[in-house]
Amino acid sequence: MGDNAPMSYTITIENTGARFPAEENENILDAALRAGHIIPYSCRGGTCGSCAGKVVEGHIDYPQGEPPALNPTEKAVGQALFCQAQPRSDLVIEVREVRAADDIQPRKLPVRVIRKEQLAHDVVRLYLQPPGQQRLQFLAGQYVDILLKDGRRRAFSLANAPHDDEALELHVRHVEGGEFTAFVMTEMKEKALLRLEGPHGQFYLREDSERPILMMAGGTGFAPLKGMLEHAFHHGVQRPIHLYWGVRAKRDLYLDDLPRQWAEQHPNFHYTPVLSEPQPEDAWEGRTGLVHNILLQDHPRLAGYDLYLSGPPAMIHAATRDFSAHGMQDDRVFSDAFEFAADSRPGGG
Ligand code: FES
Repeated sequence: MGDNAPMSYTITIENTGARFPAEENENILDAALRAGHIIPYSCRGGTCGSCAGKVVEGHIDYPQGEPPALNPTEKAVGQALFCQAQPRSDLVIEVREVRAADDIQPRKLPVRVIRKEQLAHDVVRLYLQPPGQQRLQFLAGQYVDILLKDGRRRAFSLANAPHDDEALELHVRHVEGGEFTAFVMTEMKEKALLRLEGPHGQFYLREDSERPILMMAGGTGFAPLKGMLEHAFHHGVQRPIHLYWGVRAKRDLYLDDLPRQWAEQHPNFHYTPVLSEPQPEDAWEGRTGLVHNILLQDHPRLAGYDLYLSGPPAMIHAATRDFSAHGMQDDRVFSDAFEFAADSRPGGG
């Protein structure tokens, strides 16, 4: 190792046997997340205590000073706050790993709209940032509720992946008669403050499976699948993944270039956009019809797959009805539409 290169240590999580490298000048939480080991966190500033665990063997240091949320008694028994602690030797630690959505407590927090981007005639993308160094911990594919002033709430899927959590990304489609989405499309400005609660939902990538994956999105149902795919690519998931994205016309494929790029970069990823009502000006030479029928034409036997479905409930219900006749296994199909009433699903008005 050269004189200027930081020392790298090996961290072992005792309760799971997982190992990952961490450099002497980074905190253990960052190193764990980079290696795909999700340990709990919230403030990332040493004040909330969410990232607490125990150092069973080895030495750590707090170059920023002792974190406020760590009291001397806890420290004496080896408790550490991993968002602040840096390794000074190889370590064996004890910490809870987040493996399922139930491991993360939803919380309420204010967020600022740091960017608003028109993606299509009726879709905007919002980037929301919590104050200070705070981050919202979530699993790719989960959703948040935006809390409105009158007590109502609107659910939106998170479209970013957890490793990229400085800002939360939402795809908001204007729904006919939807007051909140009309407000977002027209009046709401960058820098606006919103309140949200999350993360919620059981729609997240099951990583304890080796099965190939079929994903089906309708409209802004693309959002949570985008988050899952970015997560999968980031962690080098090698399982074959085929995404079908169904919309009406070409103008509704609001981020079409992105999955096309992924398909070029990742040999295990395939992408099929499907238009149900292509317009003459679309000059569309791709697949047409209902997206779930196209998926079935390509994959008439679904028994060996994990299925991830995201879109309007009517579409998901029609799809699962037809998929059942083609060997879909009920315990291997995941959908956000199962969790919502028709008027409050993610992306709803
Ligand atoms: Fe809050 Fe570490 S994440 S103290």
